[in-house]
Amino acid sequence: MKNIILIGFMGVGKGSVARELIKHSSYMAIDTDDLIESMENKKIKAIFENEGEAYFRKLEKNVAKWLEESVQNTLISTGGGFYKQKNLKKIGTVILLDSPFDEIIKRIKRHPNAVKKLKKRPLLADLKKAKELYDERRPEYLKLADIVVDVTKKSALDCAKEVLKKGKKHA
Ligand code: S3P
Repeated sequence: MKNIILIGFMGVGKGSVARELIKHSSYMAIDTDDLIESMENKKIKAIFENEGEAYFRKLEKNVAKWLEESVQNTLISTGGGFYKQKNLKKIGTVILLDSPFDEIIKRIKRHPNAVKKLKKRPLLADLKKAKELYDERRPEYLKLADIVVDVTKKSALDCAKEVLKKGKKHA
């Protein structure tokens, strides 16, 4: 089995879909943000505040190198900016979870932990800037994706099933 890499904008549901995917497949999963937080023993928000975004991107680069060299048969969920890693396509099959910006924000706000979800993401603090980031990134996400799954108004379980179905055809 090739690795599966989930990419997509902040809050689109990469974590939720990954959790459903592991329930319904034999994949084990890792998350690039979780790896970075445990390596640094710090939350992403604190890394951005104390060391800055450039430092965080360097950590993502180290993770990407390790993934390419050492990880197989794994479901990898990524932070929204991880797509910038030059070796992304060498890591595995790239699956974009896609949704319009407004739907992503609605999805976050609907969540019982909405305040926490917004707070932990420094790049979502200013929604106008976040929309600009979305507009800048979406064409790049689409260019990189081997498979696109539109997650709008779908449950995480349905998205996971779609990922597995489309992923099989691509493997
Ligand atoms: C980021 C997305 C975040 C996290 C960091 C930067 C980004 O992950 O990696 O705050 O640049 O889009 P999520 O996509 O899980 O929110």
